[in-house]
Amino acid sequence: MSDTNQRKRRNKRSKLNMKRIVMVALVAIIVVGGIGGTAIYFGIIAPAMAAAELENQKTLDEYAAKYTELQPRIANDKFNDEEKQAVSAAETTFKTALDNKDVNAVPTSYTSLETTVVTAEKRISNDVAAASMTDYQDVFNMLKNHDLSDFTADEEAAVQANIAKMQAVLDNKQVDLLETTINELAASIDAHYMVENDVAITYKKGLIIANKNNCMPSSYAPGESAQAAVAFSQMAADAANEGLSLNDFSTYRSYSGQKSLYDRYVAADGQEAADRYSSRPGCSEHQTGLAFDIGGSNSAAWAETTFDDTEEAIWLANNAYKYGFILRYPPGKESVTGYMYESWHYRYVGDIAKTIYDSGKTLEEYLEVE
Ligand code: DAL
Ligand code: ZN
Repeated sequence: MSDTNQRKRRNKRSKLNMKRIVMVALVAIIVVGGIGGTAIYFGIIAPAMAAAELENQKTLDEYAAKYTELQPRIANDKFNDEEKQAVSAAETTFKTALDNKDVNAVPTSYTSLETTVVTAEKRISNDVAAASMTDYQDVFNMLKNHDLSDFTADEEAAVQANIAKMQAVLDNKQVDLLETTINELAASIDAHYMVENDVAITYKKGLIIANKNNCMPSSYAPGESAQAAVAFSQMAADAANEGLSLNDFSTYRSYSGQKSLYDRYVAADGQEAADRYSSRPGCSEHQTGLAFDIGGSNSAAWAETTFDDTEEAIWLANNAYKYGFILRYPPGKESVTGYMYESWHYRYVGDIAKTIYDSGKTLEEYLEVE
């Protein structure tokens, strides 16, 4: 064999060896890599992925639960149309994110939904606070003008202190203190008209409540309200200018006066019937001095259903609120007020009368008392 041929054969053999080495190495890499990769996948990657998935599901569940809790607040019927639309849009965005299991969009869209709800709620509570400030201011105007001239020095000092407190509460818009402060003021005025430590009177927004569930002590004897009497005179004068005659045929009635009346009605009609149109002693609004039974020129119709359709009754129904009087026992409200329709019985409440009239509610409904 020539030298040349021998070299050629050696080269060929070494090339074959290289190829084999590379092949073996490749197979080794694949096998080892495969085993290693699989080990890495099952040992590290897969558990990490499962943990992340679990974490995502936890987040989704958490927000789904939050959403369930938020639902009654979303369905607030006091939201205005604009707010309802905004809430509904935010809700749709959130629900889509939740359906898509979009773990990034779920928290942000939930926050946006909750913020929309909170903003609308704030708007409502601000409106309510503003409206209630007006109510309290109206009643305060009446209470602070109460004639204290026959009060003792101590009684007057107590009332003046409560007037100052109420003024401060209104000035500082201390909404939480409005109710207790005005009721304390009203009670300090009424203390003058009753035996000390007698049964407590019920007040709401500073207005005395006299109905079947809220009665007054027998010692409470304020007499006819001077402010109500002035308002009635003004109203009667204006009605007279329109050719109508208004007569306040029954106003303040003492406990014992109401007792005689009620007993007489029970004797005549039986208790069940009497209870539908007459208050038991201690529970009549007439004992507050703020109830005025008003009739027209025909005295035969006074406190009778024949008064209902008279010109005077219609005029009163449409105008009495302008003078601070509200119709106390409207038709169809016996289940609320406890009494049959009385087209003649008006209650003096002062400036708040217009708001109550506009609401179309009875005093019980407006003040949310039973
Ligand atoms: N007639 C009303 C209800 C009263 O007796 O006080
Ligand atoms: Zn009456």
